[in-house]
Amino acid sequence: MRILDIFKKKDKDIEQINIQYTPEHIAIIMDGNGRWAQRRNMPRTQGHRAGMESVRDIIKACSQLGVRVLTLYAFSTENWKRSEEEVSFLMNLLVEYAKKEVKELNRQRVKLIASGDISQLPGYAFREVKNAIHLTANNDGLIVNLALNYGGRDEIVNATKKIYQDISDKKLEIKDINESLFSRYLYTRDLPDPDLLIRTGGELRLSNFLLYQSAYAELYFTEVMWPDFRKQHLIEAIEDYQGRSRRFGGINKR
Ligand code: FPP
Repeated sequence: MRILDIFKKKDKDIEQINIQYTPEHIAIIMDGNGRWAQRRNMPRTQGHRAGMESVRDIIKACSQLGVRVLTLYAFSTENWKRSEEEVSFLMNLLVEYAKKEVKELNRQRVKLIASGDISQLPGYAFREVKNAIHLTANNDGLIVNLALNYGGRDEIVNATKKIYQDISDKKLEIKDINESLFSRYLYTRDLPDPDLLIRTGGELRLSNFLLYQSAYAELYFTEVMWPDFRKQHLIEAIEDYQGRSRRFGGINKR
């Protein structure tokens, strides 16, 4: 059903891609908004606004490509250190997105979810995000996972606390703990691990993003700033991914 839908919508760009090896889960560190704006003598916040267009474009492209999960690093546990003005701009942008975009997400059958401690977002942002998640919950297309107030270390510490709690409550025994059980205590729970992790903006680091889940992700770094990142750049990243040999520590998987 999904594949048929993709072929109905296929265009010239999509034809470039070998659908069979399209990553199931793509995760993106959307970096470079501030620099993109500063280079244009605009306030950093305008870079975030421009970055919203890339979010729309990449969600649409991933839907067309039949990607199952797209995780977007929208706000990290460290981003609270930014100026009050920038933090509040980002929260308002999130609210605007959650309110305005639901109709389009439903049209594309996109299901919105979040990873991170969203209960710590300002009340107005928390409510809108929860509402958008609720309104898209029955969609069966691309899963867009917004990493919000997300930090990889925080996630691992949290999982450890929850496991300890379940052991104390006799719901779990130490012998039950293994990698797959541990994964289910992470914010990403039932999601597959990312196959392809993209970072825009030229920096070469993970910045506390999906530390546990990215153990075998293929990493792709590009100089392109997030507000300039479009479907064609995503296709380049996927083509690069398709040229890699994924061995997962063993010998050739494909
Ligand atoms: C990093 O760029 C980007 C962020 C911290 C925020 C990302 C947010 C968006 C793209 C818009 C909102 C998205 C949604 C899904 C509502 P940076 O500011 O660190 O850039 P710099 O490295 O050039 O300073």
